[in-house]
Amino acid sequence: MCGIFGYIGYQDAAKMVAIGLKRLEYRGYDSWGIAVISEKLKVKSKKLFVEKQVGSIGDTKTFNSKLLTLNSSIGIGHTRWATHGGVTKTNAHPHFSTDKSFALAQNGIVENYTELKSSLSKKGYKFETETDTEVIVRLIEDKQSLRSKDLKQKLASHLSSGNVNLKEAVRLAFLELEGRNTIILISNDGQVIACRNGSPLIIGKNFKTGEIYLSSDTLSFAPFANKMLIIENGQLVQIIDKNITISDLSSGKVIKNKFEDIGFEAEEVEREGFPHFMVKEIYESPYVIEQLVSKDRKTFENFAKIINECANVYTIGSGTIGVAAAQIAFYLRLYGKKKVISLIGADSVEYLPLFKKGDLIIAPSQSGETADVLEVLEKAKQKGVKIASIVNMPGSSMTRLSDYKFMMQAGPEICVMSTKAYIFPIAWGYLISKTVQGKYDEGIKNLITLADEMDNWLKQNKNHKDIKFLAKKLATKKDIFLLGKYQNFQIIREGMVKLIEGTYKHAHALPSGDLKHYVITLIEKGVPVIVAISEDIVKQDLLNSVHEVKARGADIIAIAPKNHSDYNTFIQVPDCGQVSAIMNVIPLQLLAYYMAVELGNNVDKPRNIAKSVTVK
Ligand code: G6P
Repeated sequence: MCGIFGYIGYQDAAKMVAIGLKRLEYRGYDSWGIAVISEKLKVKSKKLFVEKQVGSIGDTKTFNSKLLTLNSSIGIGHTRWATHGGVTKTNAHPHFSTDKSFALAQNGIVENYTELKSSLSKKGYKFETETDTEVIVRLIEDKQSLRSKDLKQKLASHLSSGNVNLKEAVRLAFLELEGRNTIILISNDGQVIACRNGSPLIIGKNFKTGEIYLSSDTLSFAPFANKMLIIENGQLVQIIDKNITISDLSSGKVIKNKFEDIGFEAEEVEREGFPHFMVKEIYESPYVIEQLVSKDRKTFENFAKIINECANVYTIGSGTIGVAAAQIAFYLRLYGKKKVISLIGADSVEYLPLFKKGDLIIAPSQSGETADVLEVLEKAKQKGVKIASIVNMPGSSMTRLSDYKFMMQAGPEICVMSTKAYIFPIAWGYLISKTVQGKYDEGIKNLITLADEMDNWLKQNKNHKDIKFLAKKLATKKDIFLLGKYQNFQIIREGMVKLIEGTYKHAHALPSGDLKHYVITLIEKGVPVIVAISEDIVKQDLLNSVHEVKARGADIIAIAPKNHSDYNTFIQVPDCGQVSAIMNVIPLQLLAYYMAVELGNNVDKPRNIAKSVTVK
């Protein structure tokens, strides 16, 4: 993760980079840093200044930094999600070179950083931080100064004056990095250089004003630029005096490129009177379902044929979206009658040799940049597997590598805890499964009713009052258990994810029937057990599990259409038939929300997590 941003133009670069970083904060908010070149000081060579701080960049309207006094027009910045090294000012990016001639920021992980660091240390390089990023800086310095004899020989042909130029040094250093990395650097002679291998990098340009932006995503600069150029893996960008040159990293050869229209408006997203983005986004779920049902029927019918023709079908995702991927697989098994396997992005290794031509992988993703998933998709694609993606972020890596591309149209999701971007793919999964079953119309009808019921439920104050009351009670508990089965199993898993993210408490979701095999040892008087029960074929099984934990003193909280004498707390939801499970997500999300508020946690930016995870 981490977000990187660059600006070259006529406005104050520090301010523009701060605005960009604010829009990228969903990628990490442990610390931020900005480097600019000051043209204020009338010195021969321009000077490079860096400011770094721990924490998020805060409100850009009141952004106050000494960098703002420097009249800079070129700058880069970084918003960090710490991987190597603690959350400190020293470890924050950008990192200066020893002679302060350039500063560099990175998004990724240098997987061979231990080896590189030890070889650079042997050559006498000093390290001030615990980051893998500083290794890249020193490696570039090494390439520049040609301390390595081997390199001197190799580069004899490149040399004009005994020193390798910065671009060439960056290129050579970058080629030695293992892992998924993207870097950006600014030098005191006014150059901005960036390289991509894995983590996203996009250039934006305003063709009227000539301003240039570099960023980890398009949304961050979309309000200011009208064209974009997506940098591919294995490419290097050099910008000097507003001239952009793209070259191939391995050969160094210049590549021709064409800017394309950004193709969407990125307005400033406001909370619109809601205290937090999370609750606003929960309220938007019915609208998200309406967006889905208004999509072209043909798209679903065509894709249903593809699913039917494929040998093996997999779904994949990480975190919340991994849970959504599992629910899509559930619906495809239940209604599509396809043997579909769901995978977790970071835990798919044993499947890699099994993928083969004729298979299909369905990947939902809010960002379309999740490294754990992208890596599996890239490997599967090489083996001839077809990829389908359902992505919320326009222009993402996942969309571009997909054979079948679906856009979520959930609108920007700002809260790091994902809510409406979980609802869209599971509703999509239900609809595509109904289409495979030959019952598209029934699927649409059920989803339209669901959107209405959900909207209605969200508008009733009593529901919020009840959940707030429950949140207050659960905020004092240490552990929370969640039970579900069949259509509700992945739903309570998502409830668990939201509770963990929002409350920093231990939550544990499990298939209700498995409870008696081990977890029941943990149930004692007063332990909260949340259960999602629908009016379906497994209702009685779930009630049996409820009896079993109730007998051991558990405090039962049921999300269900009908009350039962075993429930201590009853959160009533409408009976939405085949899509009941999707309805049940809403009270669980709201419970996590109200608990986070009750506990005084940072609701929209929970500690230690990020919205887009572009590292493995
Ligand atoms: C992070 C986020 C989750 C998200 C997951 C996958 O862990 O905190 O909310 O579900 O990444 O992200 P994606 O962009 O692929 O949906």
